[in-house]
Amino acid sequence: FQSHGTRCAGEVSAAANNNICGVGVAYNSKVAGIRMLDQPFMTDIIEASSISHMPQLIDIYSASWGPTDNGKTVDGPRELTLQAMADGVNKGRGGKGSIYVWASGDGGSYDDCNCDGYASSMWTISINSAINDGRTALYDESCSSTLASTFSNGRKRNPEAGVATTDLYGNCTLRHSGTSAAAPEAAGVFALALEANLGLTWRDMQHLTVLTSKRNQLHDEVHQWRRNGVGLEFNHLFGYGVLDAGAMVKMAKDWKTVPERFHCVGGSVQDPEKIPPTGKLVLTLTTDACEGKENFVRYLEHVQAVITVNATRRGDLNINMTSPMGTKSILLSRRPRDDDSKVGFDKWPFMTTHTWGEDARGTWTLELGFVGSAPQKGVLKEWTLMLHGTQSAPYIDQVVRDYQSKLAMSKKEELEEELDEAVERSLKSILREN
Ligand SMILES: *[C@@H]1O[C@H](CO)[C@@H](O)[C@H](O)[C@H]1NC(C)=O
Ligand SMILES: *[C@@H]1O[C@H](CO)[C@@H](O)[C@H](O)[C@H]1NC(C)=O
Ligand SMILES: *[C@@H]1O[C@H](CO)[C@@H](O)[C@H](O)[C@H]1NC(C)=O
Repeated sequence: FQSHGTRCAGEVSAAANNNICGVGVAYNSKVAGIRMLDQPFMTDIIEASSISHMPQLIDIYSASWGPTDNGKTVDGPRELTLQAMADGVNKGRGGKGSIYVWASGDGGSYDDCNCDGYASSMWTISINSAINDGRTALYDESCSSTLASTFSNGRKRNPEAGVATTDLYGNCTLRHSGTSAAAPEAAGVFALALEANLGLTWRDMQHLTVLTSKRNQLHDEVHQWRRNGVGLEFNHLFGYGVLDAGAMVKMAKDWKTVPERFHCVGGSVQDPEKIPPTGKLVLTLTTDACEGKENFVRYLEHVQAVITVNATRRGDLNINMTSPMGTKSILLSRRPRDDDSKVGFDKWPFMTTHTWGEDARGTWTLELGFVGSAPQKGVLKEWTLMLHGTQSAPYIDQVVRDYQSKLAMSKKEELEEELDEAVERSLKSILREN
């Protein structure tokens, strides 16, 4: 009676013209199911062996699971699963890297997916959902590590707003739901991109997602759309927007693999600092992003803020980080149900995708404060800035130039509209040249 896997699989891979129920996003794909949640316990070794099952044969792992979405859990992959993920992206698919697609979680506005170490991993592409009219789903969590979104079920009692897919015993359901239903749609789109270009690496897939996902009509009441320092439009809840399969496949066809990835420790604050009960603790780190060294990171991909902090009430903690180019990432929002007062966060890697393409050099700012009804106390014990990205990026230079020349000459409103086109144009011409 466990229908979850069957439903997810159908979204990706249901045969065309099957006369039973819809069609898979990538109907030429093949799919295998791995039974890992059908027992009362979960272990590191079960997770690790599941996500490293036949990595030379399986291209994409679609994971519609994760730590409990109860708004108070902070949990992530353990040693073996971390190793399996690292091996997956480095050695899977003949070295091009396994693609891990992750449902960002169904904890709603009371949870924060940056507290889910699977969804917030750099090695996974985490997918949130929008409902059929473009609004936020009530179960959506927000966080700065989400890369993009797809559509899932709408508000209650609207029979047309569910996700149609294969069900047990040859049946069809019109009611698949949650970010569980969103992630497999993304897995299907990535399968189409691989069908168009088998040479794509795991990082190419993330770049393509950033560049081709769309704002369209996606709208969240709380989090507005913003542009980062290189003009890429993002949203704290939807990531870079809804996946556009057509645009992704088109761009995938002529895609040139992104340059080598480097890792730089941008700096670290290790002296304990008190977070005041009212107001906030503001810290800065100035970094050259390892310029002049072999591992210089000039164009950002992922940024991690590894943080150790304790608090009399963990759920009332609020953490933001602002990049040298002025992009603010909300690393942790309030989680009203999280009343932990002992553990806090221990070297937790908060991740943001919002500074994608930016220049990492300059001053980063971290702001920590308490939001909630009662005054709280806490101590920040570590903030280490981890920068990941490339020394050269063929397309970003052009995007920045376009953006800055537009900024200099045009009014803001016009700019906002024209920018998308400019970004798209410059990307197209560069890709064609390559
Ligand atoms: C298939 O779906 C139909 C209609 O909802 C239902 O009556 C039937 O029991 C289902 N069959 C099985 C085996 O679940
Ligand atoms: C946090 O850590 C500091 C320094 O180690 C300690 O004095 C304080 O009691 C801790 N607070 C909580 C809430 O654990
Ligand atoms: C973090 O950013 C949010 C959204 O802009 C803001 O409401 C909040 O006050 C900020 N918190 C801190 C500690 O700066």
